[in-house]
Amino acid sequence: MVFDPPYGVKEYELEQIEKMLSGGTGIWRIPPSFDGSVRSPLPRFTALDEGERQTLRRFFKDLAIAALPALKPGAHVFMASNAFLSQLVFGAMVDGGFEFRTEIIRLVQTLRGGDRPKLGEKDFPDVCSLPRGGYEPWGVFRKPLPPKMTVRECLKIYGTGGLRRRADGNPFSDVIPSERTSKREKDIAPHPSLKPQSLLRQVVRAVLPLGIGVIADPFMGSGSTVAAAEVVGYQCIGIERHANYYSLAKKAVPKLIAIRSGERSSEIVEEQQIKLAI
Ligand SMILES: C[S@@+](CC[C@H](N)C(=O)[O-])C[C@H]1O[C@@H](n2cnc3c(N)ncnc32)[C@H](O)[C@@H]1O
Repeated sequence: MVFDPPYGVKEYELEQIEKMLSGGTGIWRIPPSFDGSVRSPLPRFTALDEGERQTLRRFFKDLAIAALPALKPGAHVFMASNAFLSQLVFGAMVDGGFEFRTEIIRLVQTLRGGDRPKLGEKDFPDVCSLPRGGYEPWGVFRKPLPPKMTVRECLKIYGTGGLRRRADGNPFSDVIPSERTSKREKDIAPHPSLKPQSLLRQVVRAVLPLGIGVIADPFMGSGSTVAAAEVVGYQCIGIERHANYYSLAKKAVPKLIAIRSGERSSEIVEEQQIKLAI
């Protein structure tokens, strides 16, 4: 499984999505425009109270319990998270029966932290309340192997248990230099939590060690995982609750697939060259 779940749980409630789409307040924070470009709405995770944190724990434990019977022993789960909530939800996945394997660090400049204390900006100009976010953690979990079974045996019997190496033969790494999702991808799939193809193609490839099996993304959003799976030659099942996002995914997936690997980086180089020329 590869997925990017609803985190506040609340932010993807139908009522909250409507509020966000109509530009209203609610759990979604509409950030100010910056450098002439309007930023995408962000969910306000810090707004969760203890009751909501309990709901979140229950949600991820229930998700783990529901997912385990559908997975082969040794199957991996890659779950996108954020630095604020990962400690809470990773534990809940373990409470639900998964083995915690490691954490992937996606190096990306996020919009989290770095601010001066609210209403204390002038009094405390040299203080920031949180470090400026420079990474996104992904939890890596595994359905436990049967007792005494080795990874070799698990690979032979179930085709699971390990992670696929990169195409160049190097091991899959727990640090992935990444980038924010490109404007081009956002134009194709205007979903507030769209993940970039450059990242997802690496993650999706790793999850099936022998390239055999079916990926599931139970929180498909705009279909970015499905598109990445198609590119690396895997089958993928995507599930999405919100009808608008489901329709969006149907249109977006073929276009996301068509984005060639490395295209984004060459775009960046071009952008930088233009800036340098100016
Ligand atoms: C964080 S977004 C995933 C975005 C996705 N990674 C992308 O790149 O487009 C989570 C998605 O899960 C959907 N969702 C929330 N609760 C759900 C549920 N119970 N079943 C299926 N989908 C759900 C939301 O509508 C939202 O589109």
